[in-house]
Amino acid sequence: MRPSSALVVLLVAVSLEGKVIGVNELRLALMDFVVPEWMIPIFICIAQHESKFNTSFESLDGRKHGIFGIQNRLWCSPPGIGCGITCDSLRNEDLGNDVRCALQVFLETDRFLGQGWKAWDTYKFCHL
Ligand SMILES: *[C@@H]1O[C@H](CO)[C@@H](O)[C@H](O)[C@H]1NC(C)=O
Repeated sequence: MRPSSALVVLLVAVSLEGKVIGVNELRLALMDFVVPEWMIPIFICIAQHESKFNTSFESLDGRKHGIFGIQNRLWCSPPGIGCGITCDSLRNEDLGNDVRCALQVFLETDRFLGQGWKAWDTYKFCHL
């Protein structure tokens, strides 16, 4: 096999598996979207426990999507409309919509339940 075809096979294998990113890449994405600094370590911890930093994560029951394990019931479609995006789009490698949606999940949950982190059951691993 020529080196270039080996590379193609590798790239296809990686894209089928979904991309696992590093903590620093996630931190940069959170900073890019102006997530308040105090939230950044908590979102990183949630991503670790929800998806193990796998950008194409989907839970076995199909309810949680993307690096932050955002729930389809309320937030991504089908059927959720909260973030106005599809669950598929939360599982691509573009982290921008994941970060934007995660912030919205936090803010709206905060408004309704008085504690935005309640949207993630994995928050219990992330009390600092
Ligand atoms: C990432 O998540 C997808 C969907 O849940 C899964 O098929 C894939 O194996 C995962 N990748 C890794 C490296 O765990």
